[in-house]
Amino acid sequence: MTDSTFDKSRNLFERAVKLFPGGVNSPVRYFQPHPFFVESANGSKLFTNDGNVLIDYCLGYGSVFLGHGNQEIGSEVKHQIEKGNLFCIPTEKEIELAEVCTEIIPCAEMVRIMNTGAEATMHSIRLARAFTKKTKIIKFEGGYHGAYDYVLNKAGSGAAVQQYADGILSESSAKTITMPFNNFEALESTIKKDENQNDIACIIVEPVLANTGLILPEKEYLNDLRNITKENNIVLIFDEVITGFRLALGGAGEFFGIKPDLATFAKTLGNGFPISLIAGNKEIMSGFAPSGSVYQASTFAGNPISVTAALKTLDILTNKKNTIYPNVARTCDKMVKAIRDIVEGKKLNVTVNSIGSMYQLFFTKNPVRDYASVKTTDGKSFDRLFRTLLSKGIFIPPSPFETCFVSTVHNEEDLEKTIDAYEFALSKVTNI
Ligand SMILES: Cc1ncc(COP(=O)(O)O)c(C=O)c1O
Repeated sequence: MTDSTFDKSRNLFERAVKLFPGGVNSPVRYFQPHPFFVESANGSKLFTNDGNVLIDYCLGYGSVFLGHGNQEIGSEVKHQIEKGNLFCIPTEKEIELAEVCTEIIPCAEMVRIMNTGAEATMHSIRLARAFTKKTKIIKFEGGYHGAYDYVLNKAGSGAAVQQYADGILSESSAKTITMPFNNFEALESTIKKDENQNDIACIIVEPVLANTGLILPEKEYLNDLRNITKENNIVLIFDEVITGFRLALGGAGEFFGIKPDLATFAKTLGNGFPISLIAGNKEIMSGFAPSGSVYQASTFAGNPISVTAALKTLDILTNKKNTIYPNVARTCDKMVKAIRDIVEGKKLNVTVNSIGSMYQLFFTKNPVRDYASVKTTDGKSFDRLFRTLLSKGIFIPPSPFETCFVSTVHNEEDLEKTIDAYEFALSKVTNI
């Protein structure tokens, strides 16, 4: 098989860079010397403008759990387009979606539908501050909740590559406390400090950190978070933008058996259509205007296209949950086992973390359990791995601070090709 080349993409990037800052519309899409351009996508595959077919493990940064261009969702959406695409007036479908969510999501007594993950996390923090009448928030190093002022401290995803602090008022992030993940003692002593004791409004956490590579919560850690937040009148927010409907139908809340006060969802919710929501405790959720005094509003919130896509996605996931979740986890486990075997055979200092349909490989032999350990991994080797995989038709997110995602439509053939590519790529990684 010949290696993929990206000449057309290079030409397109030359046009793009004159028009968009850095040539892209979101920083994580850029990688050196230039990103490739996609013409279409289907199932597990991306088709680039250069004529390359790539097996996709980025999947819209975890959004496209059921694969690209799902026909069932597409046909519902087409039908809805014929009936109108934006009303800004309530629809029955919004109620149906909320009813499904209250069935599926353990903490959902009420929901508010929005458009993006950042909107959902931002407004859940505002809601928590209003409910508790406290001001400070706690987030975790490497946790990513969106590109807005007060959660970019030591954030993951693209913000992990360098600290992007320009344009952010120090006042706006002065109330954000950033703690190491998986370190309950540090968290407990911070909460107990005199200056914090009565002023922490919420803890916002990705229950599985998936924007700084992939980091699993250690045993009891999420339970400890639940207990300490209850004891101190702190709102616990699970940011399930990635884990929601992916780790289990009911997200990490179901998977780990823990009920946060609020939880935010996006990505898999619409299988690639832009939609997000906050779900949670009725008393807290009632704080949103117009029933309460926390203002949250959006022209596109609850638009019938995204709601239709979400309804169909959740319908598919609900009806097939007994096969979808075990099967996708099996596919991911197979891949992870094969990668671990390759690594062992080549005696490489590599650690692979995985859970459900997500995995990431780190160039270190040490356990990767927090942001500090991710930062010690060898970026050059990761870069080499990424480029070699790409040349062999495999697309993983271009950064070690992201997670690789498996969809429900990745098949045996994809898996074999991917494992062969890892075997080849890992034989090229020499400097570890
Ligand atoms: C866990 C998490 N929260 C929030 C966000 C922000 O979502 P969006 O990019 O839709 O604003 C992301 C995006 O990657 C995310 O992974």
